[in-house]
Amino acid sequence: MDNRLKPNIFFLLLLLLFTPTPIMAADGPIAATIKKTESTSLTSQMYRDVRSGKLNIQGDHSAVDVLILQRNIPITYDYVATLMRTPNAFGEGPACVVCHSSNNPEHSYRGLDLSTCEGILRGSTESPPSPVIMPGNPDKSPLITRLHNNRMPLGIPFFHPIDGESILKVKKWIDDGAKNNQHFEKTILPLFREKEAFGGEFPCIECHPKTNGLSLTSYRNIMRGAFYKERKKKGLPIKPVVIPGNSEASPLYQRLITNRMPPGISPGEDINHPNIQILTRWVKQGSWCK
Ligand code: HEC
Ligand code: HEC
Repeated sequence: MDNRLKPNIFFLLLLLLFTPTPIMAADGPIAATIKKTESTSLTSQMYRDVRSGKLNIQGDHSAVDVLILQRNIPITYDYVATLMRTPNAFGEGPACVVCHSSNNPEHSYRGLDLSTCEGILRGSTESPPSPVIMPGNPDKSPLITRLHNNRMPLGIPFFHPIDGESILKVKKWIDDGAKNNQHFEKTILPLFREKEAFGGEFPCIECHPKTNGLSLTSYRNIMRGAFYKERKKKGLPIKPVVIPGNSEASPLYQRLITNRMPPGISPGEDINHPNIQILTRWVKQGSWCK
């Protein structure tokens, strides 16, 4: 064999081995697509923001936050339907449709059908009938609030009665106008300090000298609502927990009687679970059935 050829063949083999052919093939078309649709496509905008350092991806839920919520991706009913029929979708617990699958109250709790879009829009049909979503307004939609509002006192079991004496006293005080009088000082305020007043292991003020920015230690603090100091700093209006004359609209009463869903879910489960945020966005976007 011609000796001068040997090193050349060796060199060619090396060249073949180290040529990144597959990568180039994949890179080419993608890069071309990005260039072509640079100004319009979601994906190209994302890459542009990554390059310019505008996209700050941090923390566990960052993908949902940065790629879905901040970009207001339209949430399809298809995804909502999947959530309703998937176990552990919002934290550990059975799928919603196990217990809410028809308008027949003999087979489905509250006659609530979460297995179809029409059913979700119709709401609970058992008396008293009640809507579960207000399209555009997640804060007023039980379908959403039921997923992230824990019943109080935190950790109270699902089966604990919702018509106990202390609960009814608070309800009546609110419905009678939530007045700051002797009755309040003598019979209502002490309930929040008593260990056993509402069941559970701890009295309310154990956590609410300040948890959730809410203090239940005096009339003034109660009426200041949740996150008073934080909201004041930002110039935001107060977030009341008591609406005088209207217990149904008052979180202070609602939190005593309303169980988080699914029943038995641990209060330790993330109340900002990515799927709760996605469902919230669906309601905010108008709860479209498509
Ligand atoms: C194991 C059965 C069960 C599962 C699973 C379940 N629920 Fe419920 N749900 C109930 C019961 C019982 C009630 C009525 C008692 C109450 O209000 O706490 C209820 C009430 C509700 C209500 C209030 C309806 C009204 O008329 O005010 C909503 C909203 C709700 N559930 C949503 C859900 C969602 C969303 C899921 C899935 C994350 C879910 N539920 C999973 C049993 C269940
Ligand atoms: C072990 C601690 C703990 C105890 C005890 C407790 N809470 Fe809470 N509370 C929390 C936490 C944490 C939140 C916010 C997160 C959540 O909803 O789970 C909260 C939220 C609230 C809110 C909602 C405020 C808002 O944002 O609108 C109200 C109202 C409330 N609690 C009332 C009570 C009452 C009344 C009691 C006594 C019956 C009580 N809490 C006992 C921890 C506690």
